[in-house]
Amino acid sequence: MKTQVAIIGAGPSGLLLGQLLTRQGIDNVILERKSGEYVLSRIRAGVLEQGMVDLLREAGVDQRMDEEGEVHDGVELAVENRRVRVDLAGLTGGKTVMVYGQTEVTRDLMEARDAIGATTIYETDNVQPHDLKSDHPYVTFEKDGETHRLDCDYIAGCDGFHGISRKSIPEGHIKEFEKVYPFGWLGLLSDTPPVADELIYAQHERGFALCSMRSRTRSRYYIQVALDEKVEDWSDERFWDELKRRIPDEVAAKLVTGPSIEKSIAPLRSFVVEPMQYGNLFLVGDAAHIVPPTGAKGLNLAASDVNTLYRLMVKVYQEGRTDLIANYSQTCLKRIWKAERFSWWMTTMLHKFSDEPDFATRMQQAELDYVTNSEAGLTTIAENYVGLPYESLE
Ligand code: APR
Ligand code: PHB
Repeated sequence: MKTQVAIIGAGPSGLLLGQLLTRQGIDNVILERKSGEYVLSRIRAGVLEQGMVDLLREAGVDQRMDEEGEVHDGVELAVENRRVRVDLAGLTGGKTVMVYGQTEVTRDLMEARDAIGATTIYETDNVQPHDLKSDHPYVTFEKDGETHRLDCDYIAGCDGFHGISRKSIPEGHIKEFEKVYPFGWLGLLSDTPPVADELIYAQHERGFALCSMRSRTRSRYYIQVALDEKVEDWSDERFWDELKRRIPDEVAAKLVTGPSIEKSIAPLRSFVVEPMQYGNLFLVGDAAHIVPPTGAKGLNLAASDVNTLYRLMVKVYQEGRTDLIANYSQTCLKRIWKAERFSWWMTTMLHKFSDEPDFATRMQQAELDYVTNSEAGLTTIAENYVGLPYESLE
């Protein structure tokens, strides 16, 4: 089998890249370890920056997003019982975000890929990239017990944090930067109307909480929990009780509770690998970096990597500009580190780190007091939240 770009992983990174390339006439094949249904069963984030929305439009997958997604021009911070609105549009010259679930983005991209007739091979085992430094790299994989070989020009490693792509880079060629936080997020999805029109990020002495949504009838809530907590120990009732204690009283009074559709605990981590390329292998999205979810940047960073690699591939195949390939990693990393900083800062400012108030606790309180009472402070949040501009290739 032969293609121009072999894509490993059919998450949002791989599917979006594949769709954009296919529409430019660049042939690609996606190899995915799991089934399509499994990929769609994963509940992930739901806030899209303008840059990602524009890229989805360019990929031709904007119809359902426009019908069902919601444009938000503000987001709220709650500090104990005090509510502060971050006027995203007002503070950024009119920029907004789109609330539309990653699961829906993935479903739309899968359908578009089917419609355009591009190849995705699901349920592949032992996917392995080879000869990354040569002009003729290839990927081997097993499907239904048989081994296959996919020859290509380039390999896009879109296989997430636990994928094979990053692990295929020989030791000594990449450096990993990591910070693991001493807590996780317990998330609950329910078919109940959201408690407010906008997302609420709540700092509280019992721990952080987030009120988010998927639609007018489906809500997503999170609470900070210790790393050793087990989902089984959190009945829906216990979750709702704890959430209510952490959000402002007037918000808690409006909360509509109901049975959970999904409940899970995710650890929080900051992670970046440098560089994001090795020969003709490019790492994209979660394969190269992880952010804690407090800034809603994970999916959006994946989209900005896709944007960079896509435009690079178009330059290569349409203009013969192979010289730009060397810029992939540094172009992506500039924006990634800024989003890492924002995600780390929001996480540090809003979570509970110690049981007894210490110096860091007081710094956190002073910072929140400053930021929420200063237009400069709120503008910092707003411009990062809506997304910093995409970096240019040259
Ligand atoms: N071979 C083939 N496919 C693999 C392999 C492998 N060895 N390892 C992982 N995969 C697949 C996974 O099954 C998954 O479907 O790669 C895909 C990676 O998808 P994601 O983890 O969703 O990563 P990405 O597409 O970069 O998405 C960006 O944004 O909101 C965040 O973390 C969230 O998933 C989200 C991410
Ligand atoms: C979500 O809706 O799942 C969500 C929203 C915003 C975040 C993180 C998660 O910052």
